[in-house]
Amino acid sequence: MICCRKVNINTLTLVVILQGTAAVLFYGWYIRNSFHHSASPKGKVHILLLSSWRSGSSFLGQVFSQHPSVFYLMEPGWHVWTKNHKSGAKVLRTTVRDLLWSLYKCDFSVMNAYLPGNPLSSSLFMWTWSQALCSPPACPFKTANESQCRQVCHAQSLSKAQEACQTYSHVVLKETRFFELESIYPLLQDPVLNLHVVHLVRDPRAVMRSRDESAYILHTDSAIVLEQRNVSSAERQYEVLREICRSHLNIYERGLLNPPPFLEGRYKLVRFEDVAQNPLTEINDIYNFVGLKMTPEVKEWIYKMTQGKGKGGWNEAFKITSRNAAEVSEAWRTELQHIKVKKIQEVCKAAMLLLGYKTVNSEG
Ligand SMILES: *[C@@H]1O[C@H](CO)[C@@H](O)[C@H](O)[C@H]1NC(C)=O
Ligand SMILES: *[C@@H]1O[C@H](CO)[C@@H](O)[C@H](O)[C@H]1NC(C)=O
Repeated sequence: MICCRKVNINTLTLVVILQGTAAVLFYGWYIRNSFHHSASPKGKVHILLLSSWRSGSSFLGQVFSQHPSVFYLMEPGWHVWTKNHKSGAKVLRTTVRDLLWSLYKCDFSVMNAYLPGNPLSSSLFMWTWSQALCSPPACPFKTANESQCRQVCHAQSLSKAQEACQTYSHVVLKETRFFELESIYPLLQDPVLNLHVVHLVRDPRAVMRSRDESAYILHTDSAIVLEQRNVSSAERQYEVLREICRSHLNIYERGLLNPPPFLEGRYKLVRFEDVAQNPLTEINDIYNFVGLKMTPEVKEWIYKMTQGKGKGGWNEAFKITSRNAAEVSEAWRTELQHIKVKKIQEVCKAAMLLLGYKTVNSEG
């Protein structure tokens, strides 16, 4: 029997030392956790949200951006493609890869090639879509919405964004400009990065409907995807979609069916339709995969975004608005001609089969 009266002085000393140690450890833990995003650089997680245009990646990007531990940037590869708009995707992929590599390491000096002079954070593509660029330390205070962010944070220098990047435990980059996993192998093999790939796919019929609405915006990108080939305007959309479907298939096969050792456990396939049907469960899954904890604020944001009213139109091509996500993801069924549906199913047959999208065979 252990009795307190028999405790001798040595035991007491030990207890005091143990308590002291516990207090120090707890204090350390408390300090780390009371600053929501200051995990040690060693435990830092880097995430590539890999998708293609019009596949719901803006929405999923926001799911990351809204999290207080995440430093998020939307499509930094846009700068590379825009500067080299007469080029082809194959030539540009290593440049995009190297740009991402530097950004993951919070080295923003690579942006000098695209943003000369003394660039501002607001020169980054779609910068107001990054919650991190609209909050301290990148911005003087946390802003409530995009328009306020534009007003309050637009004059911050890019070096502020770089400093901010270093303080977050998770760096998430969204990219639509990779068509194979092989070009990012060096990132996956970089032990410092601990890179996780979230591969978002969407039913190509819904992608096509959405692309129809934003064909003008996507024109330059389409030319690059098609390697500047001269394709008739009637065939153009289908040829781009063919490339996109082919890329999804390649990435999925490489990531899940036949991964090299350094890819194991680092790849997750997400279908947009599943997220639309079951947002909280799916997003929880994605968070678990990358080691993020769900917060009440993110939960509430997801609810607002997925249950709200409003329909996406052309002028909202790059926006996410609160609307009924499940309904939007199925809108192609009524808004796309059957002849188009058939053609898309032909062009994307293999990808649809593998990714589990059922084809329809009649107008009905
Ligand atoms: C954005 O937030 C500001 C400050 O809270 C508010 O005054 C403004 O009306 C909001 N704008 C929009 C478009 O929601
Ligand atoms: C592209 O092809 C069309 C007909 O197929 C032709 O009229 C046009 O001159 C071509 N353009 C270029 C830049 O080769």
